[in-house]
Amino acid sequence: MSQGDRVPIDAQQVDAPLSRFAIFLVVTARAGDDALDTVRDVVSGIDDLVKTVGFRDLGGKLSCVVGIGRALWDRLSPGRRPIELHAFPPVRGDVHTAPSTPGDLLFHIRAERQDLCFEFERLLLDSLGDAVAVVDETHGFRYFDARDLLGFVDGTANPIGADLPEASLIGDEDPDFAGGSYVVVQKYLHDLDAWAKLTTEEQEAVIGRTKADNVELDDGPGPQFAHKTLATITDADGTEFDILRDNMPFGRPGQGEFGTYFIGYSRRLWVIQLMIKRMFVGDPPGYYDRILDVSHAVTGTTFFVPSNPVLQALGDDEVVAATEHPDVSPDAPAVGASLGIGSLRDRAP
Ligand code: HEM
Repeated sequence: MSQGDRVPIDAQQVDAPLSRFAIFLVVTARAGDDALDTVRDVVSGIDDLVKTVGFRDLGGKLSCVVGIGRALWDRLSPGRRPIELHAFPPVRGDVHTAPSTPGDLLFHIRAERQDLCFEFERLLLDSLGDAVAVVDETHGFRYFDARDLLGFVDGTANPIGADLPEASLIGDEDPDFAGGSYVVVQKYLHDLDAWAKLTTEEQEAVIGRTKADNVELDDGPGPQFAHKTLATITDADGTEFDILRDNMPFGRPGQGEFGTYFIGYSRRLWVIQLMIKRMFVGDPPGYYDRILDVSHAVTGTTFFVPSNPVLQALGDDEVVAATEHPDVSPDAPAVGASLGIGSLRDRAP
């Protein structure tokens, strides 16, 4: 993977360490200039609010990443848009569908303490007032050794070190928005009773790792690939395109609700979309990700995460970038396909 592109360091805390708690807050902005002014003020001053709450316990490591959806971006910064930014396209497989759901702003709030996340969200919504309407609010928690509620360790293959900014932050390919990132969220609900009917070996084949000790497995014979293989994107030269995930379990056992909140950051939006396409449509088509037989996506939304300077400039009520970008087709997986990207990683013998 190329390390050549310079990446500015003043990115939002996309790479905040995996935390014990998180709140995923998705809101829509109301119509009108007043609502827009409020949104400008709040998002451009988000750092101050993080300090206000986070300073009360620095060991709590409070952080908040702000993502902005395409429609709101166009209101905030008309005509000047990150190259790949567009709304989440629904993906329809033969059996399962990934819906596209509304969302103008994502606040990804993380901390080691639940009260820090809660207090931050409370003050944030206070300051946004009736400029926004809450679409979804999910409170996630770290489950034992970073397991999802299916019982598997989740997050192992995340990039680390120099690979992390390379995979997650926009570079020279879009200079006006360098240091930014794309983020996709999907809220999944699990049928844990159906999952429990599979043997451990069957579950391991679905995920592609052993359950107890998290060791990666080769795919079996035949066309059905494991989740970890369908979610691996390589180009014709074998270059792999990673994303940064910080999935969190959530749930209310009393309501029978058990879920995984998927969140993926990427320098290249098309990579995440291609992963979702491969999961839902399958590769080859029809051989979709068996994780979906017990996991139902109820939301799907895409946002752009501007660098700190671009985010702060949104408060200035003026255009944030210097050049105009052409419109981008919502069919981003075709972008990858046209580059010859997206072939399946070679299967182990
Ligand atoms: C790998 C769980 C949805 C992308 C994994 C692993 C688990 C897991 C247990 C193996 C360990 C690891 O490397 O993290 C889940 C669950 C999901 C979900 C429970 C929701 C029901 C998604 C979605 C995407 C995705 C929607 C992409 C859009 C990936 C990637 C890997 C991975 C890129 C690493 C593949 C590799 O080994 O290189 N996931 N996942 N996952 N997942 Fe998911």
